[in-house]
Amino acid sequence: MRGSALSGFDGSLEDEILKTVETPIVVLDRNGAVVRFNEASERLTGFAATEILDRKIWEFLILDEEIEAVRTIFEETCGASTPTHFVNYWKTKKGERRLIEWSNQRLNDEEGEVAYILATGIDITESKSREVALSESKAFLRSIIDASPVAVITIDDKGNILTFSHEAEKTFGYEEAELLGSNINALMPEPDRSAHDGYIRGYLETGEHRIIGKARAVKAQRKSGEIFPAILHVTEFADGSRVFVGFVEDVSSQAAIESRLKETQVQLQHAGRVGEMGEMATSIAHELNQPLTASASLAGAAALTLKKVDFSGRDGVIALLDDAVGEIRRASDIIRQMRDFVRKRKTAKSLHDINKVVEEACAIAVIGAEAEGISVKTDFQANAGAAQLDRTQIQQVVTNLVRNAIDAMHNSPKKELTISTERRNGLIEVKVADTGFGIPKELKSRLFEAFVTSKEDGLGVGLSISKSIIDAHRGDLLVADNKPSGCVFIFRLPPEAHDDAEQNP
Ligand SMILES: Nc1ncnc2c1ncn2[C@@H]1O[C@H](COP(=O)(O)OP(=O)(O)OP(=O)(O)O)[C@@H](O)[C@H]1O
Ligand SMILES: [Mg+2]
Repeated sequence: MRGSALSGFDGSLEDEILKTVETPIVVLDRNGAVVRFNEASERLTGFAATEILDRKIWEFLILDEEIEAVRTIFEETCGASTPTHFVNYWKTKKGERRLIEWSNQRLNDEEGEVAYILATGIDITESKSREVALSESKAFLRSIIDASPVAVITIDDKGNILTFSHEAEKTFGYEEAELLGSNINALMPEPDRSAHDGYIRGYLETGEHRIIGKARAVKAQRKSGEIFPAILHVTEFADGSRVFVGFVEDVSSQAAIESRLKETQVQLQHAGRVGEMGEMATSIAHELNQPLTASASLAGAAALTLKKVDFSGRDGVIALLDDAVGEIRRASDIIRQMRDFVRKRKTAKSLHDINKVVEEACAIAVIGAEAEGISVKTDFQANAGAAQLDRTQIQQVVTNLVRNAIDAMHNSPKKELTISTERRNGLIEVKVADTGFGIPKELKSRLFEAFVTSKEDGLGVGLSISKSIIDAHRGDLLVADNKPSGCVFIFRLPPEAHDDAEQNP
């Protein structure tokens, strides 16, 4: 064998070393034919040294597309005085590929001419594929982060920014490069800015989840200094060390819509009130008419009686009494006209599904409640049913009760608003329950009277209007204590006799 021409590769110490090393070692002659193919190479490729000796390496071990490059590096090594390095695939006997990193060294004969090339390899197939997979998965993750419609920011356990997504750049106005390594607190206004390091420390020390896993309304700050409302969601994962991922949704335009809705809501409430005042005017007119008629009769009777007695100045007094009767009649007429006017605009009732009516009213009435930290629950029982009702008026009642409940929980530690409907003892029952401090004692007996209020800006007509509306629907409105705190306002309405009759939307 030609390999024997190389002293030192036949049975010597070097030969023993070649046999035992775990890395593939190949010796080629000046033409690229295999002279020595060690055991590690045999194990790696499945070829026995005996089958391949004297064959050129690129005739059987090299992928077609790499033959050219391997021949080039081979020639280069023959002409080089220092080792060359190369990475290429080996094709195993079974046709699999192994990626090998080579260090090639030229060996000279006695004349100093190139005699052999000694190639020592490291099989990097697995580590390379791990590396590729890792960088691919990192690139994949990054592309997801950048495609996210909300800003994604990752930080380490000191609050230093590690990743800042495209949307984060758009939202905050910073380039990622400006912020990498900076503290996340640059993105929030005071007092959070100064407190944030403490929040993280507190979490790391106590493990107490203040914010992790929960969405929460926060204030954030753009590079321009503008402060905007945002919803923040934070999750945590360990990537060797602890990493926090924040998803920040800019809700400034949403907040603008909400504040417009809130204005509309107030206007609606006001318009509703004006309408409902008419209802109250009807009953006031009714109540006033009687005493006025009585006063006119009494004053008339007094005048008649006086006419029968004689005293000085009598005619003057009678004339005054007649004037008084005239004024009282005039007041009576005004009230009658007002009642007729109000009566004309009396609203028509029609059949409505109570759940729809209540749900619509709630949708508007609860706006802003969540921002105040109130959790709103609804429980509309499917069997609650339908009733002949004036939708606007009943919605007015629901709105009043819900707004009162929200007002009542302003300072309470527990803030839960529950609006529910059900069918109970044959009646439709609607409940608005809160966890406030309950009805102030001094108001209890006069709660449903007009102009009774404990609020600075309250008119105190909400409940009295509500009561007159519910009365006009042949129902009743009452209040009870909620357990363990707050109160429940309940109104009950008689349902339509045939609930399955055609219903209005
Ligand atoms: N859910 C409630 N919890 C505690 N107190 C309540 C509740 N609802 C009403 N009240 C009390 O009853 C009073 C009267 O309520 P009402 O709705 O008639 O008027 P208001 O809310 O004060 O003013 P507005 O005319 O603007 O509604 C309130 O001022 C408040 O003191
Ligand atoms: Mg009110």
